[in-house]
Amino acid sequence: MKINLANIKKATKILNKDECVAVPTETVYGLAGNAYSDKACKKIFKIKRRPMNNPLIVHYYNHQDLKKDCIFNNEFIKLYKKFCPGPITFILDLKKDSKISRIVTNNSKTLAVRFPKHPITRDLLKKLNYPLAAPSANLSSKVSAVNSNDVKDDFGKKIKYILEGGKSSIGLESTIVDLRNKPQILRLGGLETSLIQKVLNKKVKINNNPLRVSSPGQFKLHYSPGIPIRLNFKKLKKNEAYLLINKKTETKSNYYFLSKNGNLKEAAKNLYSILRKIKKNKHKSIAVSKIPNKGLGKTINDRLMRASKF
Ligand code: TXA
Ligand code: MG
Repeated sequence: MKINLANIKKATKILNKDECVAVPTETVYGLAGNAYSDKACKKIFKIKRRPMNNPLIVHYYNHQDLKKDCIFNNEFIKLYKKFCPGPITFILDLKKDSKISRIVTNNSKTLAVRFPKHPITRDLLKKLNYPLAAPSANLSSKVSAVNSNDVKDDFGKKIKYILEGGKSSIGLESTIVDLRNKPQILRLGGLETSLIQKVLNKKVKINNNPLRVSSPGQFKLHYSPGIPIRLNFKKLKKNEAYLLINKKTETKSNYYFLSKNGNLKEAAKNLYSILRKIKKNKHKSIAVSKIPNKGLGKTINDRLMRASKF
Protein backbone atom coordinates (compact mmCIF):
# COMPACT_ATOMS: atom_id res chain seq x y z
CA MET A 1 0.00 0.00 0.00
CA LYS A 2 1.33 3.42 -1.00
CA ILE A 3 2.10 5.93 1.74
CA ASN A 4 -0.12 9.00 1.50
CA LEU A 5 1.80 11.81 3.20
CA ALA A 6 -1.25 14.07 3.52
CA ASN A 7 -3.03 11.35 5.51
CA ILE A 8 -0.05 10.90 7.82
CA LYS A 9 0.11 14.65 8.35
CA LYS A 10 -3.55 14.71 9.27
CA ALA A 11 -3.14 11.82 11.73
CA THR A 12 -0.14 13.56 13.30
CA LYS A 13 -2.06 16.78 13.77
CA ILE A 14 -4.92 15.01 15.54
CA LEU A 15 -2.60 12.91 17.73
CA ASN A 16 -0.66 16.03 18.72
CA LYS A 17 -3.92 17.41 20.13
CA ASP A 18 -4.28 14.39 22.44
CA GLU A 19 -7.03 12.90 20.32
CA CYS A 20 -7.25 9.27 19.13
CA VAL A 21 -6.67 7.96 15.61
CA ALA A 22 -7.25 4.42 14.33
CA VAL A 23 -4.09 3.11 12.68
CA PRO A 24 -3.43 0.09 10.45
CA THR A 25 -1.00 -2.60 11.55
CA GLU A 26 -0.07 -5.91 9.95
CA THR A 27 -1.88 -7.77 12.76
CA VAL A 28 -5.10 -5.77 13.33
CA TYR A 29 -6.07 -2.08 13.41
CA GLY A 30 -5.20 -0.17 16.60
CA LEU A 31 -6.93 2.71 18.38
CA ALA A 32 -3.95 4.96 18.99
CA GLY A 33 -3.07 7.89 21.23
CA ASN A 34 0.06 9.57 22.64
CA ALA A 35 1.40 7.11 25.23
CA TYR A 36 3.02 9.97 27.20
CA SER A 37 -0.29 11.82 27.59
CA ASP A 38 -2.79 10.95 30.37
CA LYS A 39 -5.48 12.81 28.48
CA ALA A 40 -5.02 10.87 25.23
CA CYS A 41 -4.80 7.53 27.04
CA LYS A 42 -7.96 8.17 29.06
CA LYS A 43 -9.75 8.79 25.77
CA ILE A 44 -8.66 5.41 24.40
CA PHE A 45 -10.21 3.60 27.40
CA LYS A 46 -13.36 5.67 27.14
CA ILE A 47 -13.96 5.20 23.41
CA LYS A 48 -13.23 1.49 23.62
CA ARG A 49 -15.24 1.04 26.83
CA ARG A 50 -12.28 -0.87 28.16
CA PRO A 51 -11.84 -1.59 31.88
CA MET A 52 -9.04 0.62 33.26
CA ASN A 53 -7.27 -2.42 34.76
CA ASN A 54 -6.56 -3.86 31.31
CA PRO A 55 -3.23 -2.28 30.25
CA LEU A 56 -2.39 -1.14 26.70
CA ILE A 57 0.38 -2.11 24.29
CA VAL A 58 2.72 0.74 23.35
CA HIS A 59 3.99 0.93 19.76
CA TYR A 60 7.48 2.20 18.90
CA TYR A 61 9.36 2.89 15.69
CA ASN A 62 12.51 1.07 16.87
CA HIS A 63 14.52 -0.07 19.90
CA GLN A 64 16.34 3.26 20.13
CA ASP A 65 13.07 4.98 20.86
CA LEU A 66 12.21 2.35 23.47
CA LYS A 67 15.51 2.72 25.33
CA LYS A 68 14.32 5.63 27.45
CA ASP A 69 11.24 3.78 28.67
CA CYS A 70 12.21 0.13 29.24
CA ILE A 71 15.02 -2.07 30.52
CA PHE A 72 16.40 -4.39 27.85
CA ASN A 73 17.61 -7.96 28.36
CA ASN A 74 19.41 -10.47 26.12
CA GLU A 75 16.33 -12.37 25.14
CA PHE A 76 14.60 -9.18 24.06
CA ILE A 77 17.58 -8.26 21.87
CA LYS A 78 17.64 -11.71 20.24
CA LEU A 79 13.92 -11.67 19.44
CA TYR A 80 13.97 -8.03 18.37
CA LYS A 81 16.77 -8.69 15.87
CA LYS A 82 14.95 -11.62 14.36
CA PHE A 83 11.30 -10.56 14.32
CA CYS A 84 10.99 -6.77 14.53
CA PRO A 85 9.24 -4.94 13.12
CA GLY A 86 6.61 -7.70 13.28
CA PRO A 87 3.76 -9.43 15.11
CA ILE A 88 5.38 -9.88 18.54
CA THR A 89 4.75 -7.95 21.78
CA PHE A 90 7.25 -7.97 24.66
CA ILE A 91 6.53 -7.49 28.36
CA LEU A 92 9.48 -5.61 29.85
CA ASP A 93 10.25 -3.69 33.05
CA LEU A 94 9.63 0.04 32.89
CA LYS A 95 12.46 2.43 33.70
CA LYS A 96 11.85 4.58 36.77
CA ASP A 97 12.08 7.82 34.80
CA SER A 98 9.96 6.64 31.88
CA LYS A 99 7.38 9.14 30.65
CA ILE A 100 4.76 6.51 29.82
CA SER A 101 1.38 7.58 31.21
CA ARG A 102 0.35 5.60 34.29
CA ILE A 103 -3.05 5.21 32.65
CA VAL A 104 -1.43 2.92 30.04
CA THR A 105 -0.11 0.45 32.60
CA ASN A 106 -2.72 0.77 35.34
CA ASN A 107 0.21 1.83 37.56
CA SER A 108 2.10 -1.41 37.01
CA LYS A 109 5.89 -1.42 36.63
CA THR A 110 5.83 -3.43 33.42
CA LEU A 111 5.08 -2.39 29.86
CA ALA A 112 3.86 -4.27 26.78
CA VAL A 113 5.75 -2.99 23.71
CA ARG A 114 5.58 -3.72 20.03
CA PHE A 115 7.16 -2.56 16.75
CA PRO A 116 4.49 -2.81 14.05
CA LYS A 117 5.55 -3.57 10.49
CA HIS A 118 2.84 -1.82 8.48
CA PRO A 119 4.70 0.82 6.38
CA ILE A 120 2.11 3.56 6.96
CA THR A 121 2.13 3.26 10.73
CA ARG A 122 5.90 2.92 10.70
CA ASP A 123 6.16 6.19 8.83
CA LEU A 124 3.79 7.82 11.32
CA LEU A 125 5.78 6.50 14.32
CA LYS A 126 9.02 7.74 12.79
CA LYS A 127 7.64 11.26 12.55
CA LEU A 128 6.08 11.49 16.02
CA ASN A 129 8.18 12.34 19.06
CA TYR A 130 6.22 10.00 21.31
CA PRO A 131 5.20 6.31 21.07
CA LEU A 132 1.58 5.26 20.49
CA ALA A 133 -0.51 3.39 23.01
CA ALA A 134 -2.99 1.31 21.05
CA PRO A 135 -5.33 -1.54 21.88
CA SER A 136 -7.06 -3.31 19.02
CA ALA A 137 -9.61 -0.96 17.41
CA ASN A 138 -12.76 -2.88 18.28
CA LEU A 139 -15.32 -2.70 21.08
CA SER A 140 -14.17 -4.57 24.22
CA SER A 141 -14.71 -8.36 24.05
CA LYS A 142 -15.58 -8.27 20.33
CA VAL A 143 -13.77 -9.38 17.16
CA SER A 144 -10.76 -7.23 16.19
CA ALA A 145 -10.85 -4.93 13.15
CA VAL A 146 -8.80 -5.86 10.09
CA ASN A 147 -9.79 -2.99 7.82
CA SER A 148 -11.05 0.58 8.11
CA ASN A 149 -14.69 -0.40 7.55
CA ASP A 150 -14.60 -2.72 10.57
CA VAL A 151 -13.37 0.21 12.67
CA LYS A 152 -16.19 2.40 11.32
CA ASP A 153 -18.75 -0.32 12.07
CA ASP A 154 -17.65 -0.45 15.71
CA PHE A 155 -17.07 3.22 16.49
CA GLY A 156 -18.77 5.39 13.86
CA LYS A 157 -18.05 9.04 14.56
CA LYS A 158 -16.52 8.41 17.98
CA ILE A 159 -13.10 8.22 16.33
CA LYS A 160 -11.85 11.47 14.82
CA TYR A 161 -9.82 9.85 12.06
CA ILE A 162 -8.97 6.45 10.59
CA LEU A 163 -5.63 6.22 8.84
CA GLU A 164 -6.35 4.06 5.78
CA GLY A 165 -3.97 1.12 5.36
CA GLY A 166 -5.93 -1.56 3.50
CA LYS A 167 -6.52 -5.01 4.94
CA SER A 168 -4.20 -6.24 7.71
CA SER A 169 -1.90 -8.83 6.17
CA ILE A 170 -1.75 -11.20 9.17
CA GLY A 171 -5.22 -10.75 10.64
CA LEU A 172 -4.48 -12.07 14.15
CA GLU A 173 -3.17 -10.03 17.10
CA SER A 174 0.52 -10.14 18.01
CA THR A 175 2.01 -12.95 20.09
CA ILE A 176 2.70 -11.66 23.62
CA VAL A 177 5.88 -12.89 25.30
CA ASP A 178 6.75 -12.00 28.89
CA LEU A 179 10.53 -11.60 29.10
CA ARG A 180 10.92 -10.40 32.68
CA ASN A 181 11.93 -13.75 34.15
CA LYS A 182 11.77 -17.09 32.41
CA PRO A 183 10.22 -16.28 29.01
CA GLN A 184 6.59 -17.28 28.68
CA ILE A 185 3.88 -16.74 26.10
CA LEU A 186 0.88 -14.85 27.51
CA ARG A 187 -1.14 -14.78 24.31
CA LEU A 188 -0.83 -16.92 21.19
CA GLY A 189 -0.77 -14.69 18.12
CA GLY A 190 0.42 -13.97 14.62
CA LEU A 191 3.96 -15.21 15.29
CA GLU A 192 4.23 -18.96 15.85
CA THR A 193 5.57 -20.06 19.23
CA SER A 194 7.90 -22.59 17.59
CA LEU A 195 9.77 -19.76 15.82
CA ILE A 196 10.27 -17.93 19.13
CA GLN A 197 11.56 -21.12 20.74
CA LYS A 198 14.01 -21.64 17.91
CA VAL A 199 15.58 -18.20 18.40
CA LEU A 200 15.75 -18.51 22.19
CA ASN A 201 16.96 -22.06 21.80
CA LYS A 202 14.69 -23.29 24.59
CA LYS A 203 11.18 -24.44 25.27
CA VAL A 204 8.93 -21.50 26.13
CA LYS A 205 5.98 -22.12 28.42
CA ILE A 206 2.56 -21.08 27.19
CA ASN A 207 0.78 -19.50 30.13
CA ASN A 208 -2.66 -19.24 28.67
CA ASN A 209 -4.59 -19.80 31.87
CA PRO A 210 -6.95 -16.86 32.24
CA LEU A 211 -7.12 -17.20 36.02
CA ARG A 212 -3.40 -16.90 36.56
CA VAL A 213 -2.20 -14.79 33.68
CA SER A 214 -1.75 -11.10 34.13
CA SER A 215 -3.05 -10.33 30.62
CA PRO A 216 -6.70 -9.46 31.26
CA GLY A 217 -7.35 -9.63 27.52
CA GLN A 218 -7.07 -13.36 28.04
CA PHE A 219 -10.20 -13.39 30.21
CA LYS A 220 -13.02 -15.63 29.27
CA LEU A 221 -15.27 -14.11 26.64
CA HIS A 222 -13.23 -12.36 24.01
CA TYR A 223 -13.01 -12.08 20.25
CA SER A 224 -16.77 -12.67 20.05
CA PRO A 225 -18.78 -11.97 16.88
CA GLY A 226 -21.85 -11.48 19.13
CA ILE A 227 -23.54 -14.83 18.38
CA PRO A 228 -22.83 -18.29 19.85
CA ILE A 229 -20.00 -20.37 18.40
CA ARG A 230 -20.16 -24.17 18.71
CA LEU A 231 -16.92 -26.11 18.48
CA ASN A 232 -17.79 -29.74 19.09
CA PHE A 233 -21.18 -29.89 17.47
CA LYS A 234 -22.79 -33.08 16.20
CA LYS A 235 -25.27 -31.65 13.74
CA LEU A 236 -25.80 -28.23 12.09
CA LYS A 237 -28.81 -26.28 13.34
CA LYS A 238 -31.26 -24.58 11.00
CA ASN A 239 -29.86 -21.27 9.65
CA GLU A 240 -26.57 -21.88 11.40
CA ALA A 241 -23.41 -20.71 9.64
CA TYR A 242 -20.83 -23.43 9.01
CA LEU A 243 -17.19 -22.32 9.24
CA LEU A 244 -14.69 -24.53 7.41
CA ILE A 245 -10.95 -24.42 6.83
CA ASN A 246 -11.11 -25.99 3.38
CA LYS A 247 -13.28 -25.29 0.37
CA LYS A 248 -15.59 -28.26 -0.23
CA THR A 249 -17.00 -29.35 -3.56
CA GLU A 250 -20.40 -29.29 -1.94
CA THR A 251 -21.13 -25.67 -0.95
CA LYS A 252 -24.25 -24.08 0.45
CA SER A 253 -25.19 -20.49 1.16
CA ASN A 254 -24.48 -20.99 4.88
CA TYR A 255 -20.95 -22.41 4.31
CA TYR A 256 -18.04 -20.04 4.95
CA PHE A 257 -14.50 -21.01 3.98
CA LEU A 258 -11.46 -19.64 5.81
CA SER A 259 -9.23 -20.81 2.98
CA LYS A 260 -9.57 -22.36 -0.44
CA ASN A 261 -7.09 -25.13 0.26
CA GLY A 262 -6.57 -25.32 4.03
CA ASN A 263 -3.77 -22.72 4.07
CA LEU A 264 -3.50 -21.54 7.69
CA LYS A 265 -2.00 -18.13 6.87
CA GLU A 266 -4.87 -17.39 4.52
CA ALA A 267 -7.32 -18.68 7.15
CA ALA A 268 -5.82 -16.37 9.80
CA LYS A 269 -6.11 -13.38 7.48
CA ASN A 270 -9.78 -14.16 6.75
CA LEU A 271 -10.94 -15.23 10.22
CA TYR A 272 -12.21 -11.96 11.70
CA SER A 273 -13.71 -10.64 8.43
CA ILE A 274 -15.66 -13.86 7.98
CA LEU A 275 -16.91 -13.83 11.59
CA ARG A 276 -18.14 -10.26 11.05
CA LYS A 277 -19.73 -11.23 7.73
CA ILE A 278 -21.60 -14.16 9.29
CA LYS A 279 -23.06 -11.82 11.91
CA LYS A 280 -24.06 -9.31 9.22
CA ASN A 281 -25.75 -12.09 7.23
CA LYS A 282 -28.00 -12.65 10.25
CA HIS A 283 -27.07 -16.20 11.14
CA LYS A 284 -28.03 -17.01 14.71
CA SER A 285 -24.99 -19.15 15.52
CA ILE A 286 -21.79 -20.59 14.05
CA ALA A 287 -20.64 -24.22 13.96
CA VAL A 288 -16.90 -24.69 13.41
CA SER A 289 -15.41 -27.70 11.65
CA LYS A 290 -12.08 -28.95 13.02
CA ILE A 291 -9.07 -26.74 12.28
CA PRO A 292 -5.59 -28.35 12.41
CA ASN A 293 -3.97 -27.45 15.73
CA LYS A 294 -0.54 -26.56 14.35
CA GLY A 295 1.23 -23.31 13.44
CA LEU A 296 -1.22 -20.42 13.16
CA GLY A 297 -4.03 -22.98 13.53
CA LYS A 298 -3.23 -22.93 17.26
CA THR A 299 -3.95 -19.19 17.44
CA ILE A 300 -7.11 -19.57 15.35
CA ASN A 301 -8.33 -22.34 17.68
CA ASP A 302 -7.45 -20.23 20.73
CA ARG A 303 -9.57 -17.32 19.44
CA LEU A 304 -12.51 -19.56 18.48
CA MET A 305 -12.38 -21.30 21.88
CA ARG A 306 -12.56 -17.92 23.67
CA ALA A 307 -15.27 -16.65 21.33
CA SER A 308 -17.30 -19.81 22.06
CA LYS A 309 -17.73 -18.86 25.74
CA PHE A 310 -20.70 -16.73 24.70
O1 TXA B 1 -1.50 -7.05 17.44
C1 TXA B 1 -1.72 -6.44 18.47
O2 TXA B 1 -1.13 -6.73 19.53
C2 TXA B 1 -2.76 -5.32 18.44
C3 TXA B 1 -2.20 -4.20 17.55
C4 TXA B 1 -3.11 -3.00 17.50
O3 TXA B 1 -0.92 -3.84 17.99
N1 TXA B 1 -3.04 -4.84 19.76
C5 TXA B 1 -3.76 -5.55 20.66
O4 TXA B 1 -4.03 -4.86 21.84
O5 TXA B 1 -4.17 -6.68 20.47
P1 TXA B 1 -5.12 -5.30 22.90
O6 TXA B 1 -5.17 -4.17 23.84
O7 TXA B 1 -6.36 -5.67 22.23
O8 TXA B 1 -4.47 -6.53 23.61
C6 TXA B 1 -3.33 -6.32 24.40
C7 TXA B 1 -3.19 -7.39 25.42
C8 TXA B 1 -4.29 -7.38 26.45
O9 TXA B 1 -4.68 -8.73 26.64
C9 TXA B 1 -3.60 -6.83 27.69
O10 TXA B 1 -4.16 -7.36 28.86
C10 TXA B 1 -2.18 -7.30 27.49
O11 TXA B 1 -1.97 -7.15 26.12
N2 TXA B 1 -1.20 -6.46 28.20
C11 TXA B 1 -0.95 -5.15 28.04
N3 TXA B 1 0.00 -4.72 28.89
C12 TXA B 1 0.39 -5.79 29.61
C13 TXA B 1 1.34 -6.01 30.65
N4 TXA B 1 2.10 -5.02 31.12
N5 TXA B 1 1.46 -7.26 31.15
C14 TXA B 1 0.72 -8.28 30.66
N6 TXA B 1 -0.20 -8.14 29.67
C15 TXA B 1 -0.37 -6.92 29.16
MG1 MG C 1 -8.07 -6.65 21.71
